[in-house]
Amino acid sequence: MKQKVYITRKLPDEIVDRMREKYEVRMWEEEEIPVPREVLEKEIEPVDGLFCLLTEKIDQPLLENAKNLKVVANMAVGYNNIDVDEARARGVVVTNTPGVLTETTADLTFALLMATARRIPEASEYLRHGKWETWSPMQLTGQDVHGATLGIIGLGRIGEAVARRAKGFNMNVLYHNRSRHHEAEEALDLQYVEFDELLKESDFVCVLTPLTKETENMIGREQLAKMKKTAILINTARGGIVNEDALYDALKNNEIWAAGLDVFVKEPVSVKHRLLTLPNLVTIPHIGSASIQTRMKMAEVAAMNLMCVLDGEEAPNKIRE
Ligand code: GLV
Ligand code: GLV
Repeated sequence: MKQKVYITRKLPDEIVDRMREKYEVRMWEEEEIPVPREVLEKEIEPVDGLFCLLTEKIDQPLLENAKNLKVVANMAVGYNNIDVDEARARGVVVTNTPGVLTETTADLTFALLMATARRIPEASEYLRHGKWETWSPMQLTGQDVHGATLGIIGLGRIGEAVARRAKGFNMNVLYHNRSRHHEAEEALDLQYVEFDELLKESDFVCVLTPLTKETENMIGREQLAKMKKTAILINTARGGIVNEDALYDALKNNEIWAAGLDVFVKEPVSVKHRLLTLPNLVTIPHIGSASIQTRMKMAEVAAMNLMCVLDGEEAPNKIRE
């Protein structure tokens, strides 16, 4: 009997076909609507493998339903949507897609940093709304990126790739991380600093750490208060790392200069969220890894991980915490 696989969102045919050759595959056929929880609860019951996205919460009650499950393959590098301890306790392998999205996510992080510093969305709206009447000395002026100090929180693969881009802009790069990366410090001329020092010294603070119990609300009132009044906060990691109430107040009261967010605590963020009323917030809908090439690679890597486990092999991207 063929093993069973459930895919929680419509994927490109070529990826699905590869899995269909070997397994009995069912898939949620929508692209823009996530699988409802009740549907997933039923679908997961008989399956050996689950291919999922960061929009699905793979928690204890759900895993309870999945008596045959051997692998949860997440199509993302972050896996805070999955209860990895619970999965492990049940002998379920969890995998992610590191590596393939590093450069694409670093590109987007830098794009958001520059768009925020130079007020690009606001300037574009200004023109489209017919406000451009003349060239004027201080019109739509922003902050310089070149030569500024960038503080990277979390020097993983993406953090390093952002640091490399920053060096091309002649930035001074500081980082804070659980462990020091001496090789990267040497190769990229980075300076390791304590968290508080990073907050105090940086013109741009860039959040690039995974969301865990330790990093949740890592940037709150106290941390925002330590930042420069001219500082810009960029978050392309996970919303929960930054406290949104504290960020709202800091932006509203001009305690920091601006923020660029690709991620929110609750996604999709409501258009009524009060952060979205602020002119000094630049925001995009969790598109860090969204290039055609990279999303295809992520789907391929997730499928490969799933197939490895179902075929009794070691998955290349097994989460080991
Ligand atoms: C996207 O946010 C990812 O974790 O891959
Ligand atoms: C993600 O791949 C990271 O380690 O930054």
